[in-house]
Amino acid sequence: MLRCVFRCLRTNPTAGQRGMSQSSLAGKVAIITASTDGIGLAAAQALGRRGAHVVVSSRQQANVEKAVALLKSQSIQVTGTTCNVGKGEDREKLVQMTLEQCGGIDILVSNAAVNPFFGNILDSTEEIWDKILSVNVKAAFLMTKLVVPHMAKRGGGNVVFVSSVAAYQPMLALGPYSVSKTALLGLTRALAPELAHSNIRVNCVAPGIIKTRFSTTLWENDDIMDEFKRQLCIKRVGLPEEIGGVIAFLCSEDASYITGETITATGGMSCRL
Ligand SMILES: NC(=O)c1ccc[n+]([C@@H]2O[C@H](COP(=O)([O-])OP(=O)(O)OC[C@H]3O[C@@H](n4cnc5c(N)ncnc54)[C@H](OP(=O)(O)O)[C@@H]3O)[C@@H](O)[C@H]2O)c1
Repeated sequence: MLRCVFRCLRTNPTAGQRGMSQSSLAGKVAIITASTDGIGLAAAQALGRRGAHVVVSSRQQANVEKAVALLKSQSIQVTGTTCNVGKGEDREKLVQMTLEQCGGIDILVSNAAVNPFFGNILDSTEEIWDKILSVNVKAAFLMTKLVVPHMAKRGGGNVVFVSSVAAYQPMLALGPYSVSKTALLGLTRALAPELAHSNIRVNCVAPGIIKTRFSTTLWENDDIMDEFKRQLCIKRVGLPEEIGGVIAFLCSEDASYITGETITATGGMSCRL
């Protein structure tokens, strides 16, 4: 066994060596969906600060322009466009624009999600399920399918899905949304072995309660937060940048042996399926 390892190192002197700057993403092109606010914007900042050219998008042109201006003011290389991930033509436009303006794709952070329903799961309708599954799960898969050939052309890449603590423990009144987030754990595990052949790693991050517009109804409500705090080790809500850093780690060479995994970043809330 050892002889075999030494032979390998003689014929391939770089095998087993790690570069100096494993966290650098210089020269990489990263598409981050739903990235004009909250966790998506923080992911764009984290990837951009590590040297990636980031492509930000969301539904509203004004939000795209604001995010692009902010990232430029932080000396981050950035391109922006509108993209509603629920629309096939928008997904294709995002990928085409990235190829034309940035020359390739190395990273996809699939971050977009909707939640149009609060209530007892049995009161949810077929339309609600169609909307939630279409944006939160199907679009995540279809975006991945669109970018994979381009990552393969570059010799590999990284896909990161943004799930939720709700994937592990469905949140009260958020049944369909929680189920969609559990599906992303499965999607991560289903894609990882197939894409490993193309040197593409597929991972997932499951944030806890993070202070963004999306979760305002949770962190603004003292009763709800008191209940959450009982479950937290770190007795506060998380910040978007605390998820952005995890995403950047997963996309970097520091995570070169990690695929098919979900990292929970929940301030210590217990996460078990
Ligand atoms: N905040 C939390 O506590 C928390 C916890 C666990 C998981 N998450 C997950 O984290 C992700 C981001 O949430 P967030 O809290 O960062 O939300 P946020 O701060 O409200 O930001 C949402 C972003 O998504 C864009 N967006 C919404 N619908 C879109 C669509 N159909 N297509 C493209 N862009 C869309 C919005 O811009 P436009 O309005 O311009 O489209 C905005 O840029 C979601 O997947 C969410 O499920 C959040």
